[in-house]
Amino acid sequence: MAHPTTNADGSVSITLTVNGEAMTVDVPADMRLVTFLRDRLGLTGTKYACEVGVCGVCTVLVDGRLTSSCLALAVQVDGAELLTIEGVSEREDMQVLLDAFVSEGGFQCGFCTSGQIVTIASLMMSDEGRALDDEERRHHLAGNLCRCTGYYGIERAARKALS
Ligand code: FES
Ligand code: FES
Repeated sequence: MAHPTTNADGSVSITLTVNGEAMTVDVPADMRLVTFLRDRLGLTGTKYACEVGVCGVCTVLVDGRLTSSCLALAVQVDGAELLTIEGVSEREDMQVLLDAFVSEGGFQCGFCTSGQIVTIASLMMSDEGRALDDEERRHHLAGNLCRCTGYYGIERAARKALS
C-alpha cells in the first residue's frame, strides 16, 4: 500500500471508502479512527468508552476485519474500505439481524449495541462465521462487553440472525 500524502501543514491526505462512499480527506496525523468517524463524518453510531481496545463499543469493519476504532489512527485506514453500524443498518441482508435484536431483547441501554451488531454482522458475512456453534459464537462475541449484562438476549439475537 502506498504511503498517504503528508501536507505542508502536517495533516495527512487519505483516501478511503466508508459505507460505500469514496472520499479523500485531510486528517491530523494523530487523529484516532473513532474520532474521525464520529466528529468528522458524523457517524456517531460508533461509540467509545474504554479507549484501550477492551470494551468493543467502537468496533467497525476495516476491509472486512473487526477493528477497535479507538486503537487505530485514521491515517492507518488509507486505501481501506470501512463498514460502520450505519452501513450495516442500511444493508438489506442485515435487516434480519436488526429485527432479531428487537424481537429477542438484545439491548437495554443500547450503548454496546452498535459494536455487538457489527461483530455479529461480520459472522453473517462469512461461511465460517455462519458455521460456528454456540460456544464458538460466544467466544467470538467475548470482545464486546455489555455493562447492562444483557448477554442472553444478545446471544439469542445472534443465534436467530445466523440460523
Ligand atoms: S472504546 Fe474501543 S474498545 Fe472500548
Ligand atoms: S445494552 Fe447497555 S451496555 Fe449493553
